[in-house]
Amino acid sequence: MSSTTHPPGVTVIADRPRGRAVREALIARRRNGHPLGAEHLALEQIKTVDIPEKIYFERASGAVITDAAGHDYIDLIMGFGAHLLGHRPPAVEAAVRKQLGNGWHFGLSNTLQGEHARRIAGLGLGEQTKILYCGSGSEATLYACRVARGFTGRTRIGIFDGSYHGSHDYALVRADTAGSSPERSASTIFGAGVPETIRSDTMRALPFRDERAFDLIRRDANDLAAVLVQPVQNNLPRMDSGWFLEGLRAVCNETGVLLIFDEVVTGLRIGHRGAQGHFGVAPDLTCYGKAIGGGLPVGALAGRPAIMDLFPKSHAEGGVFSSGTFNANPLTMAAGLATLDVVESTKDTLYAELERKADRLAARVNRFAEQRQIAVRMMNAGSMLHLGFEKALANNAWDRRAPTPEQTDDFFLHMLAQGVLMPASRMTLISAAHSDAQIETVGDAIVRTLDAMREDGLV
Ligand SMILES: Cc1ncc(COP(=O)(O)O)c(C=O)c1O
Repeated sequence: MSSTTHPPGVTVIADRPRGRAVREALIARRRNGHPLGAEHLALEQIKTVDIPEKIYFERASGAVITDAAGHDYIDLIMGFGAHLLGHRPPAVEAAVRKQLGNGWHFGLSNTLQGEHARRIAGLGLGEQTKILYCGSGSEATLYACRVARGFTGRTRIGIFDGSYHGSHDYALVRADTAGSSPERSASTIFGAGVPETIRSDTMRALPFRDERAFDLIRRDANDLAAVLVQPVQNNLPRMDSGWFLEGLRAVCNETGVLLIFDEVVTGLRIGHRGAQGHFGVAPDLTCYGKAIGGGLPVGALAGRPAIMDLFPKSHAEGGVFSSGTFNANPLTMAAGLATLDVVESTKDTLYAELERKADRLAARVNRFAEQRQIAVRMMNAGSMLHLGFEKALANNAWDRRAPTPEQTDDFFLHMLAQGVLMPASRMTLISAAHSDAQIETVGDAIVRTLDAMREDGLV
């Protein structure tokens, strides 16, 4: 396929010398590789990049993922955060193998689930904490919205610009940062298929890291069941939001609005007690997912009995419905427990090491961008990193500059060609399995990529 014939709807890597060369090298490599014959790269996060064959991944170990043609990549996606310890950590693999001999799906309460819940509650949530298991982070945030509405009798859920809470309809209502202002915080719907009434009647956009949010909550409190916040956002990993979370806690106490933390990514990642442990702010409800399942599908909602006891109640008693065939399946629970064991026994060094590696990578990229006068900044909150195509440190989504599709595609392909897999969103996650040498290689790849993009006039 020549660089001028692309399938409809597919954006094209910059047709400039360095970009073209790397794309052609990848195309040549794919043709010598696995003959899957599809038309463009179909990996979820890179589906718009035009390249003649799909990349399928076949196996992974530690920090490395290998595609069907045998190419190794340093993985910075890490199962979108599920692999805190890397791919196939020996203790987790052993636990999964052992559980396979006892069965992997019962659909009934099981002993591992009880133990897992006890351990999650033990992460500083308090002994009385009750936990509802579900299949994904999206379900956890959905149940959080539902039980908050059931508990308070109010309808709207406040959400913040720049956040991500999953794929259900409520989570697809976003702050309209292009057509509104933080004071007004109008909302919009991400993608087709979500009824307009979900946006207009059931949600409320609020400005993140902006004290005007507190007054908006006070103003709308009568109709607000809860505010749902990521204490550290995936694409804005900043650790200096304690003041904002404390402010939310105070205004929620004042108004009876529930405070929900989405710790689907930050749980077990920003320290073993998650972001709430780090910031010392206790929400009413916590959504978990990803790492607590040790790399297997999971979601969980934790909260105090007064709220959580609505779940087991019957419809007639005003109960809140929940159900899911694979909830708390023993295989996930076994993998999660093994992960919790490793975290518990290594936490004194695990988080310091993750932070040291991530800090070093971000500092190197930022130093390079500064020296070369390139408008790029890498932020990080421990092992959560994000690379933005902007110079100034963004406070929230209102002052961010969206990269062009050319920048995203070009960056992604240059990294891929150097054996580093980083999602197009450039949300980057480091695991315990990433060595110093691998982090160095990632740094080299970013620096070379930015240099190539600079030569092509893209940064
Ligand atoms: C902060 C946050 N919340 C919720 C979700 C949804 O989780 P899942 O993809 O497991 O449904 C994600 C997924 O990336 C997430 O990052």
